[in-house]
Amino acid sequence: MVRSRVVGTGSYLPANVLTNQALAQRMDTSDEWIVARTGIRQRHIAADDEFVSDLALHASRAALEAAGVRAEQIDLIVLATSTPDMIFPSSACLLQAKLGIKGGAAFDVQAVCSGFVYALATADALMRTGQYRYALVIGAEVFSRILDWSDRGTCVLFGDGAGAVVLAREEGLDVASSGLAGLGTASSRHGPPGILSSHLHADGSYSDILCVPGTVNAGKVYGTPFLRMDGGAVFKFAVRVLDEVGREALSANAMTPEQVDWLIPHQANVRILDATAKRMGIPESKVVVTVDQHANTSAASIPLAFDLATRDGRIRGGQHVLMLGVGGGFTWGGVLLRT
Ligand code: ACO
Repeated sequence: MVRSRVVGTGSYLPANVLTNQALAQRMDTSDEWIVARTGIRQRHIAADDEFVSDLALHASRAALEAAGVRAEQIDLIVLATSTPDMIFPSSACLLQAKLGIKGGAAFDVQAVCSGFVYALATADALMRTGQYRYALVIGAEVFSRILDWSDRGTCVLFGDGAGAVVLAREEGLDVASSGLAGLGTASSRHGPPGILSSHLHADGSYSDILCVPGTVNAGKVYGTPFLRMDGGAVFKFAVRVLDEVGREALSANAMTPEQVDWLIPHQANVRILDATAKRMGIPESKVVVTVDQHANTSAASIPLAFDLATRDGRIRGGQHVLMLGVGGGFTWGGVLLRT
């Protein structure tokens, strides 16, 4: 059987940190309000000369190093972003050039905050065809560029960043083989490491509750190039579908919530994370939370959290990790993997 498994993770956060206190000096908001409603304490903001492909490059290099894989071995790049460097070429192609490689497939996936889950599912499906050996899957965003900084209801929620994983194709897996590089030997109790299943969904009839309703035509911007959101509607939708798709992933693998070692939901808001874990019957201690430090980095939030929890030793070989994404579109999805 052919499948893919994560053999290395990496991430990158821009150097500039914008705290709630600093925001409160610019607009009518407060650290207390932002923390109470969202759990967010700070976010990173990309420098003017940093683009998505630059953030992705840093995260990719870290993931390649962790995996012990050379850039030249990568034959597939799938980059999730809603804030690409330019309309085209894709940021994946720009990243490929910055990595100094050529010839393999490279493309962007646009599913907003579900982007990384969509990208991972897409890369895994392509790896299963047997045509690719090593893939880079990245979520990278500069949401600070599409925020209306005069709208306190949205601009306090988001930040910039990138996270990446290296996937390796596996055939005829040995149950004793290890998963994430350097994380020890996977327990045979759990079976071989790899992506167990992916579940993707969308409902375009909800496009207006979270969108950037602008476009470029004849050199002019039509509509607005800034993010618009109905926060209450997004909140309710997100909690419902994250729980649903989480259960779908567990059921597809005949697993119970108790068998999940780590839940990594999209990091939009700590209240959404808490409500999702509670509905799924997964204790808060098993939820990886980064939204307090990173805010909502859209497609980058899940791989950033995955990398952080891998590097600090929480995620170890032989564990079950459930990633759940939800975002504009509306889109949602889940990936269940064994490290
Ligand atoms: N600082 C201070 N006050 C604020 C701020 C702010 N930054 N933003 C809004 N307010 C005020 C409003 O003006 C309103 O004042 P009023 O009562 O005088 O009119 C009051 O706070 C309450 O506003 P609501 O919008 O009703 O606040 P709510 O409790 O719904 O919280 C929030 C807003 C945090 C956006 C919430 O709806 C939410 O978490 N929604 C989920 C959306 C989300 O996380 N989106 C992320 C992107 S989506 C995704 O990633 C899938």
